[in-house]
Amino acid sequence: MVYKGVIFDLDGVITDTAQYHYTAWKYLGEKIGIDIDENFNECLKGISRLESLEKILIKGNKENFYNDLQKEDLAKSKNEHYVTLLDKLTPSDVLENIVETLNYLKENDIKIGLASASKNAPTILDKLQLRDYFEVIVDPAQVKKGKPSPDIFLECAKMLGLDAKECIGIEDSKAGVVAINESNMLSIGIGSESNLNHANMIIPSTKELTQTIKTLIN
Ligand code: BG6
Ligand code: MG
Repeated sequence: MVYKGVIFDLDGVITDTAQYHYTAWKYLGEKIGIDIDENFNECLKGISRLESLEKILIKGNKENFYNDLQKEDLAKSKNEHYVTLLDKLTPSDVLENIVETLNYLKENDIKIGLASASKNAPTILDKLQLRDYFEVIVDPAQVKKGKPSPDIFLECAKMLGLDAKECIGIEDSKAGVVAINESNMLSIGIGSESNLNHANMIIPSTKELTQTIKTLIN
């Protein structure tokens, strides 16, 4: 296959904001009497803010404790905490070999897109000084269904002017890898075999990304 585009997830792929999401959810959980651990957190990765809250409430058998307005307030308070954690972000927080990979893609005229479920994605890319690399950043509010539905990846390919089959998707979450697979792109999972064994290719960290992309593109 001749690949013409690479579509990145953000949190946990470009930078380790996945840990800040976890910190903020864990803190909120403690406030409402629901304990979450890192293992449970895997199922929150890739999904929207409100869906994450819903899963946490279900875990604590509290899904009927709050009305929609109260749930929005809880999600808002998690986000306010999360955004304060983002204050610390600088370009030095870009994960290893991400800039090298982006430069390699640019040099080889491969289109670059972002398919993140995060409403904070543009702010994060600005803090990391990476925004100019991305030809397309899909606004998650514009797609009907979030990951694991393939919609956000399909929309990104469309906006890049490419067929899904011409694209490679990169993800660290279970839901995200399902979304890439469903879109018929080639999926690269970054993380552990135990979480991402449905990915077409798995690498343990972004350290291996430039080399992996090179073998696929040339
Ligand atoms: C995804 C994260 O990238 O974005 C999820 O993996 C997060 O953990 C989702 O819930 C939504 O992010 P935000 O920044 O809009 O709350
Ligand atoms: Mg992610």
